[in-house]
Amino acid sequence: MTLITTKKELESVISSFDKKETVGLVPTMGALHMGHASLVTKALSENENVIVSIFVNPTQFNNKEDLQKYPKTLETDINLLQKLSSAIIVFAPTVEEIYADALVTKSYEFDGLDKVMEGEFRDNHFNGVGTIVEALLLLTKPHRAYFGEKDFQQLQIIKKMVQTQQIAVEIVGCPIVREPSGLAMSSRNERLSASLRKEAAFIFETLNVAKRKFGTKSANVVQKWVVNEFQKHPNLELEYFTITNANTLKPILRKQKNIKYRAFIAVYADDVRLIDNIALN
Ligand code: PAF
Repeated sequence: MTLITTKKELESVISSFDKKETVGLVPTMGALHMGHASLVTKALSENENVIVSIFVNPTQFNNKEDLQKYPKTLETDINLLQKLSSAIIVFAPTVEEIYADALVTKSYEFDGLDKVMEGEFRDNHFNGVGTIVEALLLLTKPHRAYFGEKDFQQLQIIKKMVQTQQIAVEIVGCPIVREPSGLAMSSRNERLSASLRKEAAFIFETLNVAKRKFGTKSANVVQKWVVNEFQKHPNLELEYFTITNANTLKPILRKQKNIKYRAFIAVYADDVRLIDNIALN
């Protein structure tokens, strides 16, 4: 395991790679769990060299408290990665190393992908994500970069960003990894009490039933049903449930054949914000 913290060290490690070999990047904010492990495992199976970045990016947090509370567990993260492969390069820079003196966020044209759901509820979040992911891609020059489908909107936005910024990299989306209860794995799950963690399994249960209902009912009917179901769970506050075209992320107006749809959900369990999504067809 090689741990590096500066751009200079990173440059020197990258220049030592065999030019015939490929590089896979797994960008993370640390507090690693089995979802991250699945991305790293895929990256290891497809590339000779794998870089995992661990960086809690301040420009993508619209809420200061959320940023402060974000878990920082570098030692545990390194132990987890070490078990996957001792050849992994961990890049864990400081905020100053990445942003120097000013936390400047770039502005991107995401073709409306950023205007809905997470974009609607988290001001400037995706410009912050774009800024850091572009910076990491330019620093590490990977052939492939791996992202989880739990953040499906982020995945679509990153695909759009590399296209507009003309960055030669394959963006690889990886399936959501779930706890045995069905709850999507997230670093935030650690902040849930045992009873809320159990109750939060209701989110995925609801998505599954919504998927079944979507087979025969309109999006509007499914939407109303979901809102109603959450009213029976006062500990889980529904922020949004939306059915969209899976590619454009535009909310569905009327079901059409040959279009892929996806349902997205955001729920507060106490002050912990959980998101999830499911392919509907
Ligand atoms: O999904 C995340 O953990 C972050 O948004 C990412 C992609 C590492 C950028 O900070």
